[in-house]
Amino acid sequence: MTLNNVKNVCCIGAGYVGGPTCSVLALKCPDVKVTIVDLNRARIDAWNSEKLPIYEPGLDDVVKKCRGKNLFFSTDIDDSINKAELIFVSVNTPTKTFGMGKGRAADLKFIESAARRIAEVTTGHKIIVEKSTVPVKSAESLKKILLSNCKKNTSFQILSNPEFLAEGTAIMDLLNPDRILIGGEETEDGRAAMATLASLYRRWIPEEKILTTNLWSSELSKLTANAFLAQRISSINSISALCEATGADVDEVAKAIGTDSRIGPKFLKASVGFGGSCFQKDILNLVYLCESYNLTEVASYWQAVIDVNNYQKRRFVQHVIRKLFNTVTGKKIAIYGFAFKKDTGDTRESPSIDICRYLLEEGAQLHIYDPKVTRQQVTADLVDSAVSQESYEESQGLVHVCQGPYEAVEGSHAIVLCTEWDEFLLYDYQKIYDKMLKPAYIFDGRKILNQEKLEGIGFHCEIIGKNFS
Ligand code: UDX
Ligand code: ADP
Repeated sequence: MTLNNVKNVCCIGAGYVGGPTCSVLALKCPDVKVTIVDLNRARIDAWNSEKLPIYEPGLDDVVKKCRGKNLFFSTDIDDSINKAELIFVSVNTPTKTFGMGKGRAADLKFIESAARRIAEVTTGHKIIVEKSTVPVKSAESLKKILLSNCKKNTSFQILSNPEFLAEGTAIMDLLNPDRILIGGEETEDGRAAMATLASLYRRWIPEEKILTTNLWSSELSKLTANAFLAQRISSINSISALCEATGADVDEVAKAIGTDSRIGPKFLKASVGFGGSCFQKDILNLVYLCESYNLTEVASYWQAVIDVNNYQKRRFVQHVIRKLFNTVTGKKIAIYGFAFKKDTGDTRESPSIDICRYLLEEGAQLHIYDPKVTRQQVTADLVDSAVSQESYEESQGLVHVCQGPYEAVEGSHAIVLCTEWDEFLLYDYQKIYDKMLKPAYIFDGRKILNQEKLEGIGFHCEIIGKNFS
């Protein structure tokens, strides 16, 4: 059975992927009714309010333009599934924290429960689009669950349509993507379903950017793209350590190699390490997949990307401690930036979390400021997740979330800059210096500050990949 004209789209999962993706779909397809559903009522209420649950530049405008017209946020999952001809599955797929594949494999319980729900309430024919990042062959599992639980006279086509947006630039990425990837079954019905989905994207994306592949290639491409991007960051971060040891400057090296058109200039910014919900999860997934096919060498090659990332975070903190006269116990340290990158309030796998944890283990008092991360989120990441009651109580006393950058530095020994927020460049650093204990240190883990200017004020300015020695 085929479907050409989609009038109702349902998106299961109103998170960082589902929310922006389907809001832009609604913007570009005014004749299609898009309903984004979620089990989490508070999240849906926030999508329906003035303060959206995620911070993403440009998102407010898109939502305001479409909400109540052809874009709806709801907890009535069954009704929305029932009415839709095409369903995006955008639920979370975190790394498993227990059992087989713990710490590496993706936990597919949210995908499975969404699939069971679809099977239970569906009548007629539906196109199910896998949007969440999933391990290769997930589409097959999705199909099995749907076919073994569906009612009579129902049929499904499963497509893989991975999302490549990056947080902080999601709306721009969605409006003008490098490519749209659609994977489907190599049958007449499979090709028809791919054409149906492509017809939605064609409203704003040129034909040549819409790529179609088989299901497994599409699923694997998403993991591979993220692994390649993360691998570039680990590569330049590994070189940052060598730059520090030899007196080279990693930005200069990155610029020099980036002008080679075969290498290219992007994703070569040395940092305290990559974070975010995707890179680590997807590489772990890839490693697990390789091991399950006995591809040991391939698995250890990709595992090294994660190992270097962990090394970078550890060595950054070791350097901070060494410079602060080998102890941070009882010292007040201002942390600038807690999000995993600028222009987002998301802290999933943020390098700041590990950096703060290492400093807390050493007994430092942290005064954290981030323009977009809430106090509750910092507390959830650093205090509530403490492994024991003892460490919970201890970290409760050592973690302070500040309302502004000047409050955070009052009487502090050092500033540790973890996120590359633009506003960090605009502060009055003389005022900051005056508020700090001397010698006043700044450790720039993003290589964004003006070293010369800060040293002119009197700071000891230590920049990753340059003068950490
Ligand atoms: C990533 C992919 O870019 C996106 O295509 C995919 O859909 C989801 O995963 P995201 O994690 O949102 O997106 O952000 P990204 O811009 O890729 O940054 C990831 C991490 O790498 C951040 O912590 C960032 O600060 C870091 N990074 C990025 C560097 O340290 N150096 C760089 O040069 C680039
Ligand atoms: P991502 O970054 O992949 O979008 P998020 O965690 O931000 O991940 O969003 C995933 C959303 O999916 C969450 O809001 C979660 O409540 C929702 N979700 C998970 N399972 C289901 C389900 N079975 N039905 C509806 N929503 C679900």
